[in-house]
Amino acid sequence: MTQPRLRLKAPATQRNREPIRQVLQQYLPQPARVLEIAAGTGEHAIYLAHQLPNIEYWQPTDIDPAALGSIDAWRHADPHPALQPARYLDTTTTPDSPAIAYNTLLAINMIHIAPWHAAEGLMQLARHTLEDGGILYLYGPFWQQDVVPVESNLAFDASLRERNPAWGIRDLEQVSALAESAGLYCEAIHAMPANNLSVLFRKGLKA
Ligand SMILES: C[S@@+](CC[C@H](N)C(=O)[O-])C[C@H]1O[C@@H](n2cnc3c(N)ncnc32)[C@H](O)[C@@H]1O
Repeated sequence: MTQPRLRLKAPATQRNREPIRQVLQQYLPQPARVLEIAAGTGEHAIYLAHQLPNIEYWQPTDIDPAALGSIDAWRHADPHPALQPARYLDTTTTPDSPAIAYNTLLAINMIHIAPWHAAEGLMQLARHTLEDGGILYLYGPFWQQDVVPVESNLAFDASLRERNPAWGIRDLEQVSALAESAGLYCEAIHAMPANNLSVLFRKGLKA
């Protein structure tokens, strides 16, 4: 008998999914064809696919088998016609050719909980899979020049580095430079709850 797949829950998702939706709604190409990297439990995919307008295709991915199972369990519990079965995608390896032309790439709470190499791979993925004019959306904590780090982010960064010395909150300037080297420019930065940022990159040349 097949085991039922477990729907995992990340409490932060309940708090950040609606603020994320509000930002995404302003920038999402229409219709949206979304490749979600590091989709984790799948809760963002379910919520955003249902709540954002005109989602034509949503491909959730992750590297963790438990995450892939959870995404599919959520998908079965609350189906959306655009939401595809979860797929394995590791940004540190060379990506396959994309199944479709994506115009949106999401990575929520990922680049600080992975080695820098994963951020480099993410930008290469954007270079190879995003249509011109498409967006790359990052969500998470970042260090910003001229912004004094808050205590909670300093403590979070220390805890990440303790878990894995290759992890840690990233410097937004370095992330932007990486994005530029992959043909994207930073279009907007939004302050989010709990000292996180939404960072929107767009593929192409800045007007
Ligand atoms: C903190 S979780 C975030 C999950 C979800 N986006 C959220 O905000 O709840 C980080 C996720 O990144 C995934 N991840 C780590 N390294 C990765 C890589 N190189 N490529 C793709 N996903 C990766 C992990 O498996 C994990 O699901």
